[in-house]
Order: sequence, then C-alpha cells, then structure tokens
Amino acid sequence: MKIVVLSGSPKGEYSITYQYIKYWETIETGNVFKTFHIGQLIREIEKDENLLLDIVNEVEKADLVLWVYPVYTFIVPYQVMRFVEIIKERGLNKAFSNKHTSQIATSCHFYDHTAYNYLRQVCNDWKMHIIPGHLADMGDLIEKKGQKRFKDYITEIKLMVEQTDDKIKPSKTNKIVTIITDLKEEDANLKKMIQIYQENSNCDVQIFNLNNIKIKSGCLGCLHCTVEGQCVIKDDFQEALIKYVKNTDAIIYASKIEYHWFRSIWKKFDDRQFCNGHRILLAGVPIGYLISGNLSSEPNIRDIIESRAEVGRVYLLDIVTDESDWERITSNIKMMTKKMAWALEQKPERPINFQGVGGMKVLRDLVYSMRGMLQEDHRFYKKNKIYDFPQKQKKRIIQGYFIGFFMRNKKTRIKVLPKLKQFMVAPHQKVVENAKAGSFNN
Ligand SMILES: Cc1cc2nc3c(=O)[nH]c(=O)nc-3n(C[C@H](O)[C@H](O)[C@H](O)COP(=O)(O)O)c2cc1C
Repeated sequence: MKIVVLSGSPKGEYSITYQYIKYWETIETGNVFKTFHIGQLIREIEKDENLLLDIVNEVEKADLVLWVYPVYTFIVPYQVMRFVEIIKERGLNKAFSNKHTSQIATSCHFYDHTAYNYLRQVCNDWKMHIIPGHLADMGDLIEKKGQKRFKDYITEIKLMVEQTDDKIKPSKTNKIVTIITDLKEEDANLKKMIQIYQENSNCDVQIFNLNNIKIKSGCLGCLHCTVEGQCVIKDDFQEALIKYVKNTDAIIYASKIEYHWFRSIWKKFDDRQFCNGHRILLAGVPIGYLISGNLSSEPNIRDIIESRAEVGRVYLLDIVTDESDWERITSNIKMMTKKMAWALEQKPERPINFQGVGGMKVLRDLVYSMRGMLQEDHRFYKKNKIYDFPQKQKKRIIQGYFIGFFMRNKKTRIKVLPKLKQFMVAPHQKVVENAKAGSFNN
C-alpha cells in the first residue's frame, strides 16, 4: 500500500502522534510511506508552489491519505486547518477525490471527536472514501492494549483498501447476526439493503421486525427495574430482548429516517431497554447500521449513533446509507459483511473517544452517588472495574508533580522546557525501538 501521511503536529519527528507511523513502518513491512510534516512545513507550503504540488502529486499516486495530528482546542491544529484552506483556495482538492482516507489523532480525549468530525466533513466534501479513524489517548501506544488496538486499526484499513474484490467471500460460520428493523412494505430501499446484507453475509442472519411483536407501551419511568433488573410491563419485549439482543453474536440496525430520527417504534423499544440500567451489556459486540434517508444532513442522528456505540463499547463496523448510487451502496454493504466476518473472528477494539470516555465518567459518578438505589448498576460497575476514579491513577499524578517541581523554578524551567517534548515522546520512541520488524501478526 502506498500511504501519504499528512502529519499535523508542530513537533514533527518528536510528535507522539507521529510515533504511530514509525511503529507501523516497523511492525509491517511492504508499505510505502511518504510523510509530509505539514505541521512544521506550513509556512513553506504557503510560499513554495513546488512543495505544495509535490504533496498533491504524492496524494494522487496514493492508495491511502492518512491525516495524523494532535487534537488542539476541540479541533485540529491551526497548521492542519491552514493546509486544508490552501488546498481548497488553490482548487487542488480534486487530487483527493476517490482516495481512501483515515485519521490518527492523539489527545487526552477532550473533544477529540469534534476534531475528527471536522476532518471527516472536509474529506466528505472532497469525495474521499472514509475509513473509521484511530482516536488514541496520548499514552495509548505505550500500553500493550493500545498497541493491539492500533494493529486492529491497521487490519481494518487493509481490509477496506485492499480487499475490495467482491468475489472473495469469507467462509460460512454458524454465528448469528440479528437484523433489528422496523421495515414496512413500502420501504423499498431499506428492504433492498437488508436483502443485499443477507445475501452476502457468511453468518446465519435472523430478522427481528419490531412491527411483528407486541410492545404495549414505552418506558413508564417506574424504576422497578433498578432493583429487579427486569421490566414490569408484561408484553413481548423481555423475550425479544433476550432472543434478539442478548443471545446474538452481532447486530445490524436497519431503519428509515423520518423527521430527525427513526420512526417512534424504535424509541419505544429503546426506552424499554432502560431495564438494563446503565450497564454496558453488549461490550465488544460488532454492530452496524443500514439507514435509508439523508443521514448527511442529520448530524444529531450520527452523533447519537456514535455516542451510543462509544459508551456501550460496541464495535461500530460502519453506517451504510442509501444516499449514493446502488453500485456504491452494494459495495459498502458487502464491505460491511466482510468486516463483520473479521470482527466476529478477531474481536477487534478501538480506543474510546470523548463520547465514550466523557459519557462513561458521567454515568460512573451518577451510579456511584446513587448506589443505594441503583443496586444492579452498582454491582455491575464494581465487578467490571468501572469505578476508575482519578485518584487511582497514581503514576500519572506522581509524574505531574515531578515535572511541576522542575517548572516552578525559573532557572530549572529554562533547562527543562526545551527538553520536554523529547521527554514526553521518549516512552513512545522506546516502544518503536523495541518493536520487532515484521511482527505485525504477533
Ligand atoms: C495548544 C494545545 C491544545 C490542546 N487541546 C487539546 C484538546 O482540546 N483536547 C485534548 O484532549 N487534548 C488537547 N491537547 C493535548 C494534545 O492533543 C496531546 O498532548 C497530543 O497527544 C499531543 O500530540 P503530539 O505530540 O503528536 O503533538 C492540546 C495540546 C496543545 C499544545
């Protein structure tokens, strides 16, 4: 694969984010990386037309354009934004169209998803093929778990860039994929999308149509379930929840947008799941969405879908809509079946972004403070170690005091500050140094 890396950190080679590229280069040979440190080169890029054209030329030849950047104040650094502006101002964005693209960002997960959404919108405007990104914590690469998640990300990229041949199908398994839908006879597009999924899946696909069961009402807010863990309303809901949500290997949600959400029957089904309280019972399960309707003009729907996936720790394969032509829709759905086959076998994980980290902190504090009442939740949070209060991060706290001690004194500060970026990137560089060439699959 030929990969053009647009690296946006002003720290260039000493950037934590850029270490991901070095790590990738080490563990997997055979790719050709062409890196431009746009975070450092931005002034030259403004002035030197040849440099700009060189970048654009490389983009044209690339299989993948990779944006690599730190999150700066809710969004991307100025340098990345200026680069985007320059490309647009000079009408060079055509070089980017039809290219696969993805993003690697590091941050403390404070509004990393808004930085991601900004670049996703740009790439959408430029008609690029978007591959989900890797929004890591600045310390992730040092941890084994972070390295594993990054390898999962590389595999996902390879799958989406290299395995586009529709004739290659994964071999059959007896895993169960449930398509939960509110499909009606008149939903021609949604029907076709579900059919394409079914025909191409290597799993046993069962369809659960919400219209075929009796759900007497939405949630009544009675809170009986906080103690009993079950809904008190007697109808088909509980049985359906066990059969189609809890006892399945994966879920595809298929619905139609109608007036800024899906039809209200979804809400009835969703709200009743409050009987699960604030427990994340589907963690690790691969899910996907087939949506009929104009999702690109409904950012709130996308936000909710992604936030739910992040908080629920499920693996969101993709959201396929019927906004393009059938050739593209079909190929996107086929890719989703391939990703599903891979996800069911390899159980990939992604780093959790602000939507998940932030959302879970709110729930953690809520459940802890109301533990006397939210008994089922409390038991679950204790058992699954969700009570990760900040005072437990002793290493980070001591490190902070250590750096703070040297910064307090002006004399030592002058000596320490120029070395800070080397100091901060050193553990990451060590991971890269220790990584074994060609060890991608280990
Ligand atoms: C100017 C500035 C703004 C930042 N804003 C954010 C932010 O909004 N959210 C966040 O989580 N981290 C923020 N950070 C932290 C960086 O994203 C984080 O340290 C990143 O890993 C640095 O990567 P790099 O070494 O590749 O530059 C900010 C850092 C700086 C210097």
